[in-house]
Amino acid sequence: MAAGTMRRVQLMLLLQLCPGILTLAVRSLDEGVLRIAVPERREVYNNGKIYDITHLITPEMSKWGTADGMGQVVTVIDSIKNGPALVVDVPRDSNISAKVMKSLQISKGVHRVLFRTLNTDRKLMYQTEFDSNYVGIVKDGAQWIVENTDIKLVGIDFLSIATYDDAVPTHQALLRTREIVVVEGLKLEDIEAGIYDLHCLPIKVLGAHGTPTRCILME
Ligand SMILES: *[C@@H]1O[C@H](CO)[C@@H](O)[C@H](O)[C@H]1NC(C)=O
Repeated sequence: MAAGTMRRVQLMLLLQLCPGILTLAVRSLDEGVLRIAVPERREVYNNGKIYDITHLITPEMSKWGTADGMGQVVTVIDSIKNGPALVVDVPRDSNISAKVMKSLQISKGVHRVLFRTLNTDRKLMYQTEFDSNYVGIVKDGAQWIVENTDIKLVGIDFLSIATYDDAVPTHQALLRTREIVVVEGLKLEDIEAGIYDLHCLPIKVLGAHGTPTRCILME
């Protein structure tokens, strides 16, 4: 389906499930609530087809030992973003602002970007105590991504894509488009900047706004 096509669809939202759990964008089941643009989805990359062999969990699905099925649990999401991704090192002396984004000179046509930041150097994911001083995208950086790039997936190496201070406006700017997927809590310490094939396979859960996901990079 072409980008920009309008369809009755679910809202793409991102939720941090709880501290320490990775999140991914998922669509809720509120059919008819919103009319939103649906991003293009592909299943063939580099001449290889990806088969999704995970069942969508639905209320009608059979549940062990009962006649009534699963009932209203959670909603499932499409197999998410798989394909080429750019890992970039961002300047260590700044959060990810419009100015920083501009300086990274990410070409049009790049759809997935994973930001390797000071968070990796500081090993924040290995600290027990939460540190609100982490690096993330600030509001004008998020706005810049939306307005000036083709990026549809952003990943980062700590618990939130947004800085602590801009948590709300950054998420709003990124998620308002219903096209951008956010992946958080990535382990990038051994990864060099460059292009990889990214595969993130979230759990298919009905109605959830985010799920844990297993992400891999292939060289
Ligand atoms: C990023 O922003 C946070 C506040 O949200 C701040 O504590 C932190 O020092 C900033 N990091 C850098 C590298 O500027």
